[in-house]
Amino acid sequence: MSSILPRGSSGRTARRIAVQAAREAGRIVRRQFGVAQTVGHKGRGNIVTETDLLSEQTILGLLRQEFPEHGILSEESPAVASTSPYVWVVDPLDGTLNFASQLQHFAVAIALVADGAPVLGVVYDPLRRELFVAERGRGATLDGRPLRVGDREDLGTAIGGFDLGYDEEGRGQALAAAVALRPAIQSLRVMGSAVLGQAYVACGRFDLYFHRFLFPWDVAAAQVLLREAGALATAWDGRPATIHSRALIAANPDLHRAFLEVVAAGSALPG
Ligand code: IPD
Ligand code: CA
Ligand code: CA
Repeated sequence: MSSILPRGSSGRTARRIAVQAAREAGRIVRRQFGVAQTVGHKGRGNIVTETDLLSEQTILGLLRQEFPEHGILSEESPAVASTSPYVWVVDPLDGTLNFASQLQHFAVAIALVADGAPVLGVVYDPLRRELFVAERGRGATLDGRPLRVGDREDLGTAIGGFDLGYDEEGRGQALAAAVALRPAIQSLRVMGSAVLGQAYVACGRFDLYFHRFLFPWDVAAAQVLLREAGALATAWDGRPATIHSRALIAANPDLHRAFLEVVAAGSALPG
């Protein structure tokens, strides 16, 4: 199946351009790692560093040059509206708190959304130099090799990931879910990058990942990875995830069902 993605003004595909943008931004993030940062505070635990902004400038600069008519939704900049069906959704640095604390787990995420549905996802982990790419209907890869969600069926042998996020109620609900899962699941990790948490489900490192308070830039690229890798990504009430869903459970179909049974069934947790 050939790509249906738009081409930029240079004639290159959206995929090649997004990969270039992610690698260039990743180089900046890698160079800045360990360098003292000017930090701004957006809320409790929610910070922004000069590296978030440098990374964003690099990505948006290239996207605007190649696709001047497309919309843009990027975490640290005002949204750019457009009449085009295409919107770029960008997280210039996911896991900023890790980055600023010199914890080596963060990523750059770039997605192209067409008529509201993500069709291209690029996630780059600059320290491990791992590149995840997925295009709707054309599969997902990690460093060029096809990737697939894990096939564990039992929570008892599963490793799950979750993160806390920036909303007090959401944090409490994520922790409550972790407490409910604890007797059933082999183990849980809180690694501090929602984008990598989802990418790790897509490649089978995590068997499931959940969160209760996400933004479009946290999920858009990963949604393509998850879908193309055979994972299910829904809200906690089981409805299909969109880029605007706050709550997420991502897993293979068996463990997805198990999560909903253990955590959501019979509880008042909202979708
Ligand atoms: C955050 C991280 C964190 C998650 C938050 C996200 P940011 O992204 O992914 O793990 O718990 O909900 O917003 O702010 O570092 O881009
Ligand atoms: Ca970010
Ligand atoms: Ca993020």
